[in-house]
Amino acid sequence: MNIVIVGYGRMGHEVESAALARGHTIAARVDPVARDADRAKLDEELVSRADVAVEFALAEAVFDNARVYSRCRTPAVVGTTGWEDQRRAVQELYRDGGALLWGSNFSVGAHMFLALVGFAAEISAKVEGYDVLMYEIHHKRKKDSPSGTALTIAEQLLDACASAAETARGEVARKRRIVTDRLDRRRDDEEIHVASVRGGETPGIHTVMFDSAADTIELRHTARNRNGFAVGAVLAAEWLVGRTGFFRVEDFIAELLGKGDTA
Ligand SMILES: NC(=O)c1ccc[n+]([C@@H]2O[C@H](COP(=O)([O-])OP(=O)(O)OC[C@H]3O[C@@H](n4cnc5c(N)ncnc54)[C@H](O)[C@@H]3O)[C@@H](O)[C@H]2O)c1
Repeated sequence: MNIVIVGYGRMGHEVESAALARGHTIAARVDPVARDADRAKLDEELVSRADVAVEFALAEAVFDNARVYSRCRTPAVVGTTGWEDQRRAVQELYRDGGALLWGSNFSVGAHMFLALVGFAAEISAKVEGYDVLMYEIHHKRKKDSPSGTALTIAEQLLDACASAAETARGEVARKRRIVTDRLDRRRDDEEIHVASVRGGETPGIHTVMFDSAADTIELRHTARNRNGFAVGAVLAAEWLVGRTGFFRVEDFIAELLGKGDTA
């Protein structure tokens, strides 16, 4: 595939390496600031020449760029985060055709981790004596806490508890709420406590513990670098070409993992 890279920052460079490693070519790198980009701005002629666009840029740019992709009927993978408020407007652009796939986490390994945590939650909700807790560690520059991925995992734990509740007996099954603050009190049985630690250069560690008086079962995902996100985005682009619709990364992952449903 001939790929136009939109946003040539840290992720744009990773996408380029991942795409070249999978035998694709780069139509152009578009970025208004990056000195090593080919173009400062997207245009229809450029986008029409490409098989697919892969965008990791700024939330403010998502709508205008999506308008260009949809006009050209060029499929687009959007990894940029923080444009929840524009989601409906962008989806509307795809009402009559075209293809766009978006997601806040393109790491295939992270989605495998989510699936494993979901299964662990389901079985531990059926057994007496198990509690669940979570902590995550990220580098000193990260601006938000807990991480979006940590919240997704915690929400998935709650969903698994809710669906296991009928047959459930254990402590895990009783979970109804996520708490992310420092606790100066005893934690309620219905709460899952999610803690965050910031420092150093760690790209991201998420740990979920199922804990009983007898033992601890610990599931951990450790991201080594940004390459996992880039590889996932390129795989998603390969999946998207030839399809029509407004997709989430979970649609692609569900097929990759052979599941009807993922988190
Ligand atoms: N979905 C995922 O898996 C995933 C993973 C990592 C990062 N992200 C997200 O991807 C985005 C980029 O992350 P990054 O670490 O590469 O940031 P970055 O700051 O290194 O790069 C972003 C680049 O986008 C450029 N840009 C700004 N406006 C643009 C426009 N209109 N057209 C093209 N380029 C434009 C900027 O000049 C900058 O070079 C962020 O929103 C980040 O949260 C998503």
